[in-house]
Amino acid sequence: MIYSKITGTGSDVPEKILTNVDLEKIVDTSDDWIRSRTGICQRHVRAEDEVTSDLALRAAQRALHAAGIAAEQVDLIIVATTTPDMVFPSTACILQAKLGVTQGAAFDIQAVCTGFVYALSIADQFIRSGSVKCALVVGAETFTNLLDWNDRNTCVLFGDGAGAVVLQPASEPGIYSTHLHADGRHVDILSVPGSISAGAAVGSPTVQMDGGAVFKFAVKVLKQASLEALATNHISMDDVDWFIPHQANVRIIEATAAKLKMPMSRVIVTVANHGNTSAASIPMALDIALRDGRIKPGQKILLAGVGGGFTWGSALIQM
Ligand code: ACO
Repeated sequence: MIYSKITGTGSDVPEKILTNVDLEKIVDTSDDWIRSRTGICQRHVRAEDEVTSDLALRAAQRALHAAGIAAEQVDLIIVATTTPDMVFPSTACILQAKLGVTQGAAFDIQAVCTGFVYALSIADQFIRSGSVKCALVVGAETFTNLLDWNDRNTCVLFGDGAGAVVLQPASEPGIYSTHLHADGRHVDILSVPGSISAGAAVGSPTVQMDGGAVFKFAVKVLKQASLEALATNHISMDDVDWFIPHQANVRIIEATAAKLKMPMSRVIVTVANHGNTSAASIPMALDIALRDGRIKPGQKILLAGVGGGFTWGSALIQM
């Protein structure tokens, strides 16, 4: 039986930091309001000449280095992103070229903030089928591109960043199971309802959100997806060393952990330092917690994501 295992992780954020106090000068908000409602203290914002694949490249290089893998060994690249460099080619193809890889498949997937869980699940299937030997799975966003900096309801929530993992075959898990869901009826509560046509933006190419509805839906499905992973693997939350939910905001994370009866001491929370980085948030949190020593080899981790679509999903993994 072939399983897949994460053998290296990496992450990256742009240098420029935008604090809550900086935001006070842009919109009618306050550090106190943002911290108390979201737990976010600062976010990173791309430089003018920085694109999603630049962040993806640095995260990928760190993940490859951690895995002890040369880029030429990669035979599948999946980039989960809502903010691709271009309409086409895919950010995965652009990343492939920047890495100097010329073999295998490369494609993007779009499941907004659940993107990394979707990408991990897809890569896991390729590895377990035996058709891929080394997958690079990246969540990367320049999500600040989609913000209306006059809309205090949304612009305080998001930031830019990237996280990456290397996935390789192993004789034991690795990835125990992944669980993906979508329900396209909920487009009205979270979307960027714009596109490009005849060389111009049509519609409204910035984030529109019903914050209260998103909050309730996110907590509900993060709990459902987490319980599904536990049930599939016949374990309880007590058997999980760390819970990494999508880093949207601390109140969603705390409410979900409470519903799962998971103590916050075993929940990885990194959102304070980078805001909601959409598809990048889970692999960034995983990398940060591995590198600071919280997550140790052999530990079981439950990942749970939720995002626009709506999409949601979970993965039970062992490092
Ligand atoms: N600064 C100051 N005031 C603000 C701000 C701001 N940045 N944003 C909104 N407000 C105001 C509103 O205008 C409103 O004012 P009003 O009552 O005069 O109309 C008031 O604050 C709303 O306050 P609350 O109801 O107390 O806000 P709430 O506790 O619902 O928090 C929040 C709002 C943070 C958006 C919450 O609903 C939430 O976290 N929702 C989830 C949103 C989210 O995380 N989205 C991320 C994308 S989804 C994903 O990743 C899955």
